[in-house]
Amino acid sequence: MNTIISFKNVVKQYDDDEVILKNVSFEIEQGKFYTLLGPSGCGKTTILRMIAGFTEATKGDIFFDNQRINDIPANKRLVNTVFQDYALFPHMNVFDNVAFGLKIKKMAKADITKKVREALKMVQLPGYETREISEMSGGQRQRVAIARAIVNEPKVLLLDEPLSALDLKLRTDMQYELRDLQQRLGITFIFVTHDQEEALAMSDEIFVMNKGRIVQSGTPVDIYDEPINHFVADFVGESNIVNGVMLEDNLVEFVGKQFECVDGGMRGNEPVEIVIRPEDLTITTPDKGKLVVTVDTQLFRGVHYEILCTDEDKNEWMVHSTRKAKEGSKVGLFFEPEDIHVMRFNESEEDFDARLESYEE
Ligand SMILES: Nc1ncnc2c1ncn2[C@@H]1O[C@H](COP(=O)(O)OP(=O)(O)OP(=O)(O)O)[C@@H](O)[C@H]1O
Ligand SMILES: [Mg+2]
Repeated sequence: MNTIISFKNVVKQYDDDEVILKNVSFEIEQGKFYTLLGPSGCGKTTILRMIAGFTEATKGDIFFDNQRINDIPANKRLVNTVFQDYALFPHMNVFDNVAFGLKIKKMAKADITKKVREALKMVQLPGYETREISEMSGGQRQRVAIARAIVNEPKVLLLDEPLSALDLKLRTDMQYELRDLQQRLGITFIFVTHDQEEALAMSDEIFVMNKGRIVQSGTPVDIYDEPINHFVADFVGESNIVNGVMLEDNLVEFVGKQFECVDGGMRGNEPVEIVIRPEDLTITTPDKGKLVVTVDTQLFRGVHYEILCTDEDKNEWMVHSTRKAKEGSKVGLFFEPEDIHVMRFNESEEDFDARLESYEE
């Protein structure tokens, strides 16, 4: 695989303020769809701006195609950005918006016309050349912004929350379209979102960020199935998280009971956190359950009921079930050993990956 961008121990600090990025290192491989996922203020836009050359790193090195680019100006970098507010030129029509970058490069008129037409076709807006921006919907504007970026044939396309202004239906359509476009063009996409479902649906690789750090990187399935810590488990998908103790390999205790599990490689009697996803819990009779809980409330969510229960230690458990439960009743919760995911406190991503590998062998 070909690394196209890498960050090595990048730090960002404005004046004497708080450190915004804390020793961020990662590698981006050519032709893949990457997502930076994290809550507001964690530093996602700052990373994009550094790749694009709009913000300087305080410390550390940024490489593009194995060349250090810290001092290369934005207009010399082979990346284009689709900004959150699209930043289209409102007084120009669609054609002029998309053609803008090519005109600056002084490309021949006939070539510009051909390339703009191709780009508009790619984003499914053929024939819209003379439309004014003010006469287009949010989703159409968004596609113009993408056409304006891809017409320059960047090696990397940076997209900063491009779908956040759209309604749910359009957003979902655009997710498919963007993913499809990325695969057809083979351009590396670096997409920013704070929406975990969007990140899971679209990406080859996700970098989960919190407070200026990348806390976990991996495929959507890796991150969903094996969150590294409480923050990731809580931020990505719905989770039940309770405190427990890892007694020995493959044996964990929580809610005063011992359970077989598939994790290991920890100290004996190490305090840990346990994650079980709501869809991995099944409701059964109290005698067949591994835990006995009381049903507090339930909501119908269309595809399933979301049922909230409490165990004898007052932990809350969320269950996704296709069947209703009776509020106030005692029920059993059943789960398999592999549904229990054990998380250590303060484990580094390296140690975490090594530990998981050790029991996959
Ligand atoms: N020019 C600046 N001067 C000082 N602080 C800044 C500047 N730009 C950004 N910050 C701070 O850096 C931190 C990270 O900002 P950034 O825009 O990267 O967050 P983000 O993850 O993109 O958030 P959001 O999801 O809200 O867009 C924030 O605390 C922000 O206030
Ligand atoms: Mg941002």
